[in-house]
Amino acid sequence: MYEDLNGKTAIVTGVGSRRGMGFAIATRLSKEGCRLLLADVRALDAIEPLADCIRSAGGIAEAFQCDIADETSVRSMVDHAISSFGQVDILINNAGILRAKAFLDYLPSDWDLMYNVMVKGSFLCTKSVAEKMLEKHIPGAIVNLSSMGGKRVFPGEAAYGTCKRAVLHLTQAAAAELSPLGIRVNGVAPGDHWTDMLEQCFREMAEREGRTVEDLIAESEAETPMRRMGTTEDVANVCAFLASDQSSFVTGQVINVNGGFFME
Ligand SMILES: NC(=O)c1ccc[n+]([C@@H]2O[C@H](COP(=O)([O-])OP(=O)(O)OC[C@H]3O[C@@H](n4cnc5c(N)ncnc54)[C@H](O)[C@@H]3O)[C@@H](O)[C@H]2O)c1
Repeated sequence: MYEDLNGKTAIVTGVGSRRGMGFAIATRLSKEGCRLLLADVRALDAIEPLADCIRSAGGIAEAFQCDIADETSVRSMVDHAISSFGQVDILINNAGILRAKAFLDYLPSDWDLMYNVMVKGSFLCTKSVAEKMLEKHIPGAIVNLSSMGGKRVFPGEAAYGTCKRAVLHLTQAAAAELSPLGIRVNGVAPGDHWTDMLEQCFREMAEREGRTVEDLIAESEAETPMRRMGTTEDVANVCAFLASDQSSFVTGQVINVNGGFFME
């Protein structure tokens, strides 16, 4: 348990699915006593049941529909968090999107979509939240979801990997400028974790390569020294650590959560 998290307010983006990273992160932060704003581009009908789930376990959570690629939408989300909870202490930039394609099949619109959500969207949320943190003299913590796809090259993920590499740079650039002002910025780089995103990616890859999803899962497990795929809780645990004062001298770091899939 991280006692300092009790009573803090966190915005988690990309909380639209019960089995996604965002919901696991929100659930973990709620268990630490955080008040939560759960945001996703999906309709409120999809987000509200997840907030309900946290509330029925005794937590404090609100749902908010937000397209993080849109500046006005991001400002409304942050204003909503401030009017509900008074301040924002923690931001988890989790929302993401993966369109996996062979390099030559990519369309410019695929690049625009992924860049706008993962790079520009993470920037917009960071800027908007950091401004409020500074206004209220909050020593904040921001955690960005990069990916092992941003650190290593995987065929079919040129656009996704490029964007996740950019998230890594964004994390370090923001840390360099915001840490002197009292805001730590870190990231996590997950490996393979079974969520809607990975399932869709494996299904499409299996079809392209004439293999089965089960083969791809077995291959991922075999290549991972810990011989399993990650859970969403594996990622949530590291996000909670990075959000808490237990990581008070950690900034500009992007921690691999990949069972040893690659080491650096
Ligand atoms: N699952 C993995 O193995 C894996 C590995 C590495 C990194 N990641 C990263 O972890 C994060 C969470 O991924 P996940 O696996 O839970 O996927 P997911 O698809 O379950 O969740 C992503 C969420 O982001 C939301 N979203 C998409 N565009 C948005 C927008 N414009 N505004 C607001 N929300 C938006 C989606 O609606 C969805 O609910 C992503 O950034 C992803 O790239 C996942």
